[in-house]
Amino acid sequence: MRNFTCVHDAGDLKTALEKAKQVKENPFADQELGKNKTLLMIFFNSSLRTRLSTQKAGLNLGMNVIVLDVNQGAWKLETEKGVIMDGDKPEHILEAIPVMGAYCDVIGVRSFAQFYDKDYDYNEVVLNQFIRYSGKPVFSMEAATRHPLQSFADLITIEEYKKTEKPKVVLTWAPHPRALPQAVPNSFAEWMNAAGYEFVITHPEGYELDEKFTGNAIVEYNREKAYKDADFIYAKNWAAYRDPNYGKILNTDRAWTVDSKKMALTNNAYFMHCLPVRRNMIVSDEVIDSPQSIVIPEAANRMVSAQAVLKEILQEL
Ligand code: CP
Repeated sequence: MRNFTCVHDAGDLKTALEKAKQVKENPFADQELGKNKTLLMIFFNSSLRTRLSTQKAGLNLGMNVIVLDVNQGAWKLETEKGVIMDGDKPEHILEAIPVMGAYCDVIGVRSFAQFYDKDYDYNEVVLNQFIRYSGKPVFSMEAATRHPLQSFADLITIEEYKKTEKPKVVLTWAPHPRALPQAVPNSFAEWMNAAGYEFVITHPEGYELDEKFTGNAIVEYNREKAYKDADFIYAKNWAAYRDPNYGKILNTDRAWTVDSKKMALTNNAYFMHCLPVRRNMIVSDEVIDSPQSIVIPEAANRMVSAQAVLKEILQEL
């Protein structure tokens, strides 16, 4: 594997899952693989899970790890080409990226959608500049349109907990006070479709995602119908995708909060969320504190997905 930005880079999912299982069973088996190799993790946005799990994955593989928070202590970076740099950004990403590439062997990048320009976000300008100019393998630690390490961890978790070959997995929109990117739901949809599960998306009208990611998923506006007989409920907020409302909050109705009444419609479903989660906005205390909540093992599997991906990258260095 050279770069990892989406489900297609993972190759055959059965094989990828088997390799992830091996990593989980024996996390220190490949300490020699990363010896004298440096992982550079670049964050344009905040993180708890991605930062810690990816760092630990690199350490498990014997790598040296450097973490850079671009907005805290580094020069502010200009990311657009052709601009007159007379503002508050003293360095252009076109110099910064090859310089960073010179100091490491593998680069992880986190760069969220900014919601100023849909084309800029959906063309993954920042991530693609790292791929083009760093000269090093690049993996996404959540980009503008996808969060593949999260989705891979979600898939690993569902495989661990599922009771039928093709479980019913429901992605439900839930309310949030801030406008959030579509990266997690886009990516989750892509991976669930690739896994071949029965996959249903439910959200208020106006929150339709890009069909490039949702593919043939069933979109069910009737929330209760969507929940019926579900094996997994995956909650997430996202801002509107479609024009002219791109990046806007259209709805804050807490009738969409995942609660016990709605969970009672399911097939005793497990509750999932990528975290961080706003309690009693996205999900009630009762549900997230219940035995059916698997948000902690899901987060723990972030280390497994990161290590499985890093291992594949290191094997091709
Ligand atoms: N789920 C996830 O990516 O968490 P962080 O934003 O804390 O990394």
